[in-house]
Amino acid sequence: MRVVVLISGRGSNLEALLKDQQNYSISHVISNNFDAPGIKLAKQFGVTNTCIDWSDNSSAEDYLIDVINTSQTDLIVLAGFMRILSKRIVTIFHNKIINIHPSLLPKYRGLNTHQKVIDSGDELHGASVHLVDNQLDHGRILAQTQIAVNNEKNAQTLAEKLISKEHKLLTSVMGLISAKELVWDDQHLKAFGKKITKPLMIK
Ligand code: GAR
Repeated sequence: MRVVVLISGRGSNLEALLKDQQNYSISHVISNNFDAPGIKLAKQFGVTNTCIDWSDNSSAEDYLIDVINTSQTDLIVLAGFMRILSKRIVTIFHNKIINIHPSLLPKYRGLNTHQKVIDSGDELHGASVHLVDNQLDHGRILAQTQIAVNNEKNAQTLAEKLISKEHKLLTSVMGLISAKELVWDDQHLKAFGKKITKPLMIK
């Protein structure tokens, strides 16, 4: 399975994927941020990478479509990619784009999810991998992971606690997708050959 990964920054989820690549290979890393540390990681791992100037959304997406098509991509993974893809992209690559988001969706779409968890006094936090539509952090949720909130002092501490679970979640989901143990169409989501109505929980 050939995978393109889109990033905007640090790239720790990308790094987890680069180290994993069990039944899938990362054929291309794309960033809207020319200074993204994740691009350095792609170079270190010898993966083709492209930075796209996103000042004009439409021409940036034209370029993105070209790069993805040239890479003969089976799946597009948004791993800390901080742009909303337009309806055009989501339609062209229908059911082929997944995103990792640091919250138990549908709670807390958008930014500052860790602070929102603290402010709301939640006892549970987590991350979700979902199919991408043209709304922010929205689309069918494939899998989630949870952590307990135990008096973490601030959002940063909570984010640090969650990030290793994010890596586990994303690599596990990629393993399941590449093994065809997690499949979907417009109507259904199936895990291990059975229809599921709730996201898969990854420990
Ligand atoms: C991760 O926490 C990811 O879940 C989040 O950005 C971070 C990227 O970190 N994504 C979103 O907030 C998407 N809405 P990374 O660059 O180290 O993987």
